[in-house]
Amino acid sequence: MRVLSGVQPSGALHIGNYLGAIRQFVGLQDEHECYYFLADLHALTTVQDADRMRKLVRELAAGYLSLGLDPGRSVIYRQSDMPEIPELGWYLSTVTSMGLLQRCHSFKEKVAQGVVPSHGLFAYPVLMAADILIVRSDRVPVGRDQKQHLEVTRDIALSFHATYGDEVFTLPEPLIQDEVAVVPGLDGQKMSKSYGNTIDIFGPEKPIRKRIMSLVTDSTPVDEPKPTEGSALYQLLKLFAPADERAWVERAFAEGGTGYGDMKKRLFDYFVATFGDARSRYDELMADPGELERILLAGAATARETVAPLMDRVRRAVGIR
Ligand code: TYM
Repeated sequence: MRVLSGVQPSGALHIGNYLGAIRQFVGLQDEHECYYFLADLHALTTVQDADRMRKLVRELAAGYLSLGLDPGRSVIYRQSDMPEIPELGWYLSTVTSMGLLQRCHSFKEKVAQGVVPSHGLFAYPVLMAADILIVRSDRVPVGRDQKQHLEVTRDIALSFHATYGDEVFTLPEPLIQDEVAVVPGLDGQKMSKSYGNTIDIFGPEKPIRKRIMSLVTDSTPVDEPKPTEGSALYQLLKLFAPADERAWVERAFAEGGTGYGDMKKRLFDYFVATFGDARSRYDELMADPGELERILLAGAATARETVAPLMDRVRRAVGIR
């Protein structure tokens, strides 16, 4: 089975990215043929500062590797090193109806958040379809917010097949893990770079601790049992607690006597236990940008070999070359 997924270098990696996506990426590497890329062309829809873009790409590459993506087992590349992707994106755009894109929630959400509604933002799902279809991936591990994009990808592939009478593409399925499909942020909404409610994985410890301590909770007094329904703190504790501490989390909420402040301190301890090693590896990788670049270029060379036969067939199907 072939697996593909990507993350945009549009901000610091946060625990929603990890639990919803990257942790799955890591787990799939042993069993499957995996392609993981950095969606820098997509990130241009929100990051429009060259130095910041370069920095975010480097950070994401170091993040991928330090969290366990292994260039020996997976093909890891930068989207912009593969000119075939925007080329395929153009062919696909000519068989994609405006109506299909107009129905996409993520476009509407981003515009509501104040992102400029550029053509690139509107056409974002078409480029994403190209990312996925180009390697003929069977499965795409993602968080729930990407589910509609997978449906659109399938619709675009079917439209291409119907237009050209050649079933060149594999129809991909999303791989979404229910319990981490929507990781909550500090304010209880979906954790997202654009909501400013993230807990970042890398960077200095002190501000991360401060952010965890600022997690929004209700005003239940220390002695009383705490509601779990709708509590981001409860959900995050359950996601991060090691197996032998899960009972503690349940008791702390059910019995009362533990204040939210103490629970947040515990959450920070779990965070350090989960990411401590990755955070040290990250610092080493960030100190060696040449090595990161070498890995990304090697990955792109492999990925370009993989996609060459499909691209030939697509070009023949549409009558170009
Ligand atoms: P991006 O960069 O916003 O997020 C990367 C991955 O993290 C997941 N995620 C979450 N999962 C659970 N809870 C959360 N709070 C949370 N926040 C983020 C996302 O679902 C995603 O899986 N369009 C994609 C990038 C992309 C892509 C692709 C993905 C471009 N081309 C092809 C798969 C295949 C995006 O914006 O992800």
